[in-house]
Amino acid sequence: MSKLRIAVQKSGRLNEDSMRILKDIGISIDNGKDQLKASARNFPVEVFYLRNGDIPQYLKDGVVDVAIIGENVLIEKGNDIRVAEKLGFSTCRVCIAVPKSVDYKSIKDLEGKRIATSYPNTVKNYLKENNISANLHIINGSVEIAPNIGLADAICDIVSSGSTLFKNNLKEVEMILKSEAVLAVSPVLSNDKQAILDKIQFRIQSVLKGRQ
Ligand code: PRP
Ligand code: MG
Repeated sequence: MSKLRIAVQKSGRLNEDSMRILKDIGISIDNGKDQLKASARNFPVEVFYLRNGDIPQYLKDGVVDVAIIGENVLIEKGNDIRVAEKLGFSTCRVCIAVPKSVDYKSIKDLEGKRIATSYPNTVKNYLKENNISANLHIINGSVEIAPNIGLADAICDIVSSGSTLFKNNLKEVEMILKSEAVLAVSPVLSNDKQAILDKIQFRIQSVLKGRQ
């Protein structure tokens, strides 16, 4: 019988909560994440530990069947991927921020400016909707440092507690979207795997109800 391949974030904010929900629905994993793949002992499931940004493409290609991933990453990279379930953890928002000292009045203040981000598609769409043209600098991490080193006038990144913005003397000026962890599904899922997914989803719904 084929196993359902579930992708989770290898390391980072989602990892711990992702492993917890798998445990709570009764899927016990044998080995740690040093191994990039692990089989469940008691369920036809394999867990793959992957980099966040790679997961949407793996879903599209059907290399993995489902994933626990931030909605923000799906919106940035995976527009044709279905969300089966919102999971209620790892909530954050994707925001634009500028140095505290800037007298920001409206989005028009971003016209012609340099914006550093790891979410270029999300920012591009947002600016386009607002008829603003700006120059994007794509950075993969530590985006909030960009204004301080003279690389950009503004940044766009995820904000959770707000502490990274605070530490870097930045203030949030635009909120583009809200996000949380979701269960995302490959567009090329076979029927037998859908049957396994149905069982998992049923268990997830019970666990989430219990958490309320
Ligand atoms: C993430 C994100 C923000 C920060 C937001 O960075 O890119 O910088 O967390 O969280 P906060 O509002 O609670 O401070 P992360 O620490 O994962 O590192 P990275 O950007 O280098 O990947
Ligand atoms: Mg960061």
